[in-house]
Amino acid sequence: VRRIVVVGASLAGLRAAEELRGQGFDGELVVVGDEPHRPYDRPPLSKQVLAGTWDADHLPLAVAHEGGLDGLDVDWRLGTRATGLDLATRTITLADDDVGVELAFDGLVIATGASPRWLPGCRTDLAAVHTLRTLDDSLAIRAVLDTTPQRVVVVGGGFIGAEVAATCRSRGVDVTLVEMLPVPMGVAVGDEVGTLMADIHRDHGVDVRLGVGVERVDGSDRVERVRLTDGTVLSAALVVIGIGVVPNTAWLDGSGLTVDDGIVCDATGQATSGVFAAGDVARWPSRRYGRSLRIEHWDNAIAMGEHVAQRLLAGSGGSAGSGDDGDVYDPVPWFWSDQYDRKVQLAGVAAGADEMQVVEGSMDERRFVALYRQGDRLAAVLAMNRPRPVVTYRRQIQAGASWSDALATASG
Ligand code: FAD
Ligand code: APR
Repeated sequence: VRRIVVVGASLAGLRAAEELRGQGFDGELVVVGDEPHRPYDRPPLSKQVLAGTWDADHLPLAVAHEGGLDGLDVDWRLGTRATGLDLATRTITLADDDVGVELAFDGLVIATGASPRWLPGCRTDLAAVHTLRTLDDSLAIRAVLDTTPQRVVVVGGGFIGAEVAATCRSRGVDVTLVEMLPVPMGVAVGDEVGTLMADIHRDHGVDVRLGVGVERVDGSDRVERVRLTDGTVLSAALVVIGIGVVPNTAWLDGSGLTVDDGIVCDATGQATSGVFAAGDVARWPSRRYGRSLRIEHWDNAIAMGEHVAQRLLAGSGGSAGSGDDGDVYDPVPWFWSDQYDRKVQLAGVAAGADEMQVVEGSMDERRFVALYRQGDRLAAVLAMNRPRPVVTYRRQIQAGASWSDALATASG
């Protein structure tokens, strides 16, 4: 392998590049990213950056490799979009000054992440209506918060919407949170914890509207009103849309790679010979959970970026490896979310769990540890303001612990 190209200059792409160098790859390494910035961290965008306590200079992703980012000896192609992939010639096309430029590769890592969904039917030309994915998005929302007397409508009660609502409240802004489903964050954490999160938001003064959608977003140049499907009209100086993301795969249309809500990979993270995917854009069959997963969390972008870099080098003869367990990507997913003074951590997959049990603390105290059962297995652990037990239970999930073993740990 002489030239490896990484498409996507963010968390998964950077960690892949770092791991390639860390594993001794001394060939040419090209990283293509359509944002103009060097790799930066996204979680603070809905937290410290929006709150106004951090600026862009806090965000660059740190690199452990000797010499930092420059020590990686990467040919950065920033502000450059990949527009096509030709597997027969093993080249990608880059949009460069409106002229397509071909870039050949021996190995390819696709780490193009995901983009926010736009609210169906919502005008795109109204000022102060935003999604939140990039540094530029966060600064644009913050600029509105800095200047206008505020009423904010947040559409979508997932993690983005909930964090934006919490941060806006911490700035003293009036916030209405509109979630189509009866429970916010319920898909990820289950209805009981989702209901608790709704109560936490209400206690902090958020007007939480559940089971209702948005019919129209109106205004002349700037947004002025949001009409809900139940007929309510909310005045709004700012609308933030957080209704989920779509993996960035359009550039792969016609390439022959299988795309189905993400790039479909094998259990090692390989999409086709010598072509791997990592992070928010990648879908793979999880042995642990017995179904295909696409995970949109920070920790997965790191772990999968590193994993596929190793597999690419190990399998540079053409296959991704021997099929041994070490070749298989089978993590226990983990994420956190900060809302007000509550930190939620979830390890494992709680979606679709058969049962949830609080095993430490209580939901009334809003400080607790809950376990999720799927069949006779421990599927997930969620902790609110009790971080330490997450490590223990995550290890148990990793080891395939039974539900009764997990409960024994809890009571012991
Ligand atoms: P991305 O970070 O999306 O990066 C993909 C990069 O590829 C982007 O720069 C994109 O512009 C670029 N790209 C796309 N298409 C092309 C193309 N054709 N050519 C070139 N470049 C391209 N996770 C948590 O676990 N906890 C949190 O608290 C948390 N908070 C978050 C807060 C916010 C506001 C956001 C947006 C995300 C948050 N996340 C959080 C999720 C986490 O940041 C993502 O899972 C992570 O960024 C995924 O990394 P990635 O490299 O796979 O994709
Ligand atoms: N109106 C109101 N709510 C809607 C609508 C709509 N038209 N459409 C979807 N929703 C709700 C969903 O029911 C869900 O609760 O929006 C929420 C979207 O939640 P997520 O899918 O978690 O997406 P989001 O919060 O945008 O986060 C996107 O960024 O940080 C990452 O981990 C985060 O992976 C997540 C991604």
